[in-house]
This record gives sequence, C-alpha cells and structure tokens, in this order.
Amino acid sequence: MNPAPNLVLVGPMGAGKSSIGRRLAERFGLEFVDADQHIEQRSGATINAIFEHVGEAGFRERERAALAELLGGDGRLVATGGGAVLDAENRRRIRERGFVVYLAAGLDAQLKRLQRDRTRPLLQRADREEVLRQMAIHREPLYREVADLVMETDGLTAADAATRLGLQLAGRWRMGAAA
Ligand code: S3P
Repeated sequence: MNPAPNLVLVGPMGAGKSSIGRRLAERFGLEFVDADQHIEQRSGATINAIFEHVGEAGFRERERAALAELLGGDGRLVATGGGAVLDAENRRRIRERGFVVYLAAGLDAQLKRLQRDRTRPLLQRADREEVLRQMAIHREPLYREVADLVMETDGLTAADAATRLGLQLAGRWRMGAAA
C-alpha cells in the first residue's frame, strides 16, 4: 500500500482527467481541483488569454506556481494539464506529493473528445492530429516516469473509468504522508 497525501492525474489533453477526476474525488472524499481552472481563477483570465498575452512560457510559470500551491496541501485530487510533466520541478513535486495515475488515451479517442474544443490554445490549428501525435512522442515517457499506476481510458465513459480506477486504487493507495 502506497501512502501519499494527494491523488494526481496526469495524461494528455482529452484523456478524461477532469471528468474522471471529479467523480473519483467524490468517491474518495477528496477536494477536486483542475489545475487549469485554478490558474484561470488566480490569473483572472482564460487559458487562451494567458497564452495570447504572456505566451506558453508565461503559462508554464503560472502552472508551476499553481501545482506548488495545490500539492502543498493534503487531501486533494489534482487534475494536471497535459504539459505539466514537461517541467522537471513539476515532475518531482507530483511524485513527492501524490499517488500518480497516468490516464492514457489513443489519438482517435483524444480527437473525438476534443472535436469541438476551443479552450486549448495549442490545438487551435488545422493539423490537430499531428500536434497530438508529436506531443505523445515527447510526453508519453514523462507520463510513465511519474506514474504509480497507468490506466487506458479509450472506450470507457467517465463513470466507468472512475469506477474501475477506484477499485484499483482501493488496493494500492491510502491517504497519508509519503513514505
Ligand atoms: C496543455 C493542456 C491543457 C492546458 C493547456 C496546455 C498541454 O490542459 O494546460 O492548454 O500542453 O497539453 P488539459 O490537459 O487539461 O487539456
């Protein structure tokens, strides 16, 4: 049994981190926090506006600060943004302060879930599929590096995925100080 003070979801855009995370948090009595929403609240601006005005680098700074704040506490389920693992400090903090679940998704499933999305600046272009493919090549090893558990979400509803993940977690994670 792995003790950790928080649960952390990592994985690409469109893997279902927020929808699954919300349900899972309820099941385990954790406070659900979506890191992107937290950044928007703190900044008083949407993710699109942040990218537009301070660029991706400015967004990543805010993302690092948000994760430091959120993972400084206990009893949270934190859904991270798909690019959070790019930063070494984030990876260290995520592992130190959380039991980490990598929610994996295939390209087709991602594209389908993100079809009508206009809130993700990195996808506001015609070659979405190629962008997601390149991100996966780059980021997949990093998701695996931080993960305590990997779960494939393709073909599962958020409710089914949360149930399945809840069962797996029940035998592997308990809330508590990291060992
Ligand atoms: C990003 C993923 C987004 C958000 C931002 C950048 C990325 O989060 O943080 O648009 O680099 O993959 P989700 O994974 O929650 O969509």
